Amino acid sequence: MYTRMPERITDQAAGLRRIGLPRPVKVIAVASGKGGVGKTSVSINLAVTMAQQGRNVMLLDADLGLANVDVLLGINTRRNLSHVISGEATLDEVIVEGPAGLRIVPSSSGTRSMLNLSTAEQGGLIRAFSELHDDVDVMLVDIAAGISESVITFTRAAHEVVVVVCDEPASLTDAYALIKVLNRYHGVDRFHILANMTGNAHEGRQLFDKLARVSQRFLDVTLGYMGAVPYDDYLRRAVQRQLAVVEAYPRSRSALAFRKMADRTERWPPPQVATGRLEFFVERLIRSGAVAGEYLS
Ligand SMILES: Nc1ncnc2c1ncn2[C@@H]1O[C@H](COP(=O)(O)OP(=O)(O)OP(=O)(O)O)[C@@H](O)[C@H]1O
Ligand SMILES: [Mg+2]
Repeated sequence: MYTRMPERITDQAAGLRRIGLPRPVKVIAVASGKGGVGKTSVSINLAVTMAQQGRNVMLLDADLGLANVDVLLGINTRRNLSHVISGEATLDEVIVEGPAGLRIVPSSSGTRSMLNLSTAEQGGLIRAFSELHDDVDVMLVDIAAGISESVITFTRAAHEVVVVVCDEPASLTDAYALIKVLNRYHGVDRFHILANMTGNAHEGRQLFDKLARVSQRFLDVTLGYMGAVPYDDYLRRAVQRQLAVVEAYPRSRSALAFRKMADRTERWPPPQVATGRLEFFVERLIRSGAVAGEYLS
């Protein structure tokens, strides 16, 4: 379903490594349109799995309204992204370490949208990301529900967009609405569809087929099927224990599905950027914030 990775891009990433430049960081946004379908669970479990596999992973909580990566992982945070923006803390000071060395950038309901930052604050944020010492291979971004300006901003700035759906009519219509806005007005033309809380092996594929049929008929997009995470009581138990299911119950069905998906993301083409530093993401974020604002105001 996915287009093949062009040789030229692979060569560019390999070339950067040979000459000692950092690998390009891959930024993956996890969105859904409808709330409560499992974005935060998917972001956390994919991030922990990738970290367990030895990748340098960062998880950015971009749910500026109701940040809950910290709640689901039982992490106490005193400072968050809003303190970096206001200059009260460095990024290193707000990053919290999660399972398997995963680094988490917490957010808060007080964090302002990228559009409302002053030029100095924008510059400060870019600098904060550029001063990070370690290279990051993958950054997962847990996006808020809905189609607000901040949802569009964070999603547009990512290299890859995962859209989580579940078997509810509102989930499919909201996912379609999100894909439509991102495609029509913001030029995003590639999405990975992840079916969550599925009841059997076929359900995920059927959900994907429905969404793909209508999207490909009315929009100019390529949709890839990322796979399904079954409905799993172990995942709920893990949430109650404030742990990632891949850590608490590594042999559960959902953990198995997350490992398969993490492997699949390894085969996605590397981003086409000159160097791999995270400040490029923040620059894209700020640029796309300005554009998203134009469409939504
Ligand atoms: N595969 C699954 N099996 C069973 N329960 C699940 C599964 N995925 C998610 N859940 C449950 O659904 C709840 C909501 O999930 P989560 O918080 O990840 O959704 P969300 O899309 O991030 O929600 P919000 O839109 O509020 O940010 C979780 O607390 C968890 O208990
Ligand atoms: Mg969430």
